[in-house]
This record gives sequence, C-alpha cells and structure tokens, in this order.
Amino acid sequence: MAPYSNFKVGAALETADGTVITGVNVENATYGLTVCAERVAMFTALAAGHRKFRRIAIVADTEDPTPPCGACRQILWEFGGDLAVTLANTRRVTGRHQLADLLPLPFDARLLE
Ligand code: THU
Repeated sequence: MAPYSNFKVGAALETADGTVITGVNVENATYGLTVCAERVAMFTALAAGHRKFRRIAIVADTEDPTPPCGACRQILWEFGGDLAVTLANTRRVTGRHQLADLLPLPFDARLLE
C-alpha cells in the first residue's frame, strides 16, 4: 500500500511454530506516519499472540537489496531477537543476514533492568 512512493515492500515473518505472517508497507497522506512492511508483519504477529520467531523475508522489486530501516531493525530485534533475515526481489535472493549483524550494540529491555 504505497500510493505516495510507489515503492512496494512485502515481509513474511515465520514464527517458531512455522506460521507465516505477512505485512506490506502502509503509507498515508502525512508521509511521516508510514509503517514499513517489516513492522506491520511483526505487529500483526504480536497482535495474534505470537511471541517467538525464526526468520523474516523482505521483498522489494529492486535489483539491489532492500534492507530493513533502522526503526524496523530495532523492533525486529526487541520482539524477534537474532532473526535470520532474507532479502529478495521478485526474481532472486539478494542477501542473507543475521539481525544481530544488522543491529550491533542494540538498546533493548535488558538494559532497563
Ligand atoms: N520500506 C519498507 O516497507 N521496508 C523497508 O525495508 C524499506 C522501506 C517502505 C517505507 C516506504 O513506504 C517506502 O518503503 C519507501 O521508503
């Protein structure tokens, strides 16, 4: 749902029990309140009661990899931990990463204890 940027992104998040929850980026007229596909997938999964996750695939129709933005890295880390992250376009895989490598020295709830 990207009528402003026309940059369409999809995310597929796999839970520990093998359920796949999807998300797309949702843009709106303020632009700034846009939510990325990754966060939509994670929030949808959390709202459905899922708490443990294995991996996420992020797909955009670009030749270069489309990696998650900083805000998404934070949210994915806090709720998903060290997820396997697969980047792809509609034809091929463009990158494979671990989230811990994409978000070094994270701030998270452990630091609030
Ligand atoms: N976007 C995502 O949904 N995920 C990413 O990993 C990168 C960016 C979206 C946000 C916005 O709707 C559009 O792509 C352009 O930034």
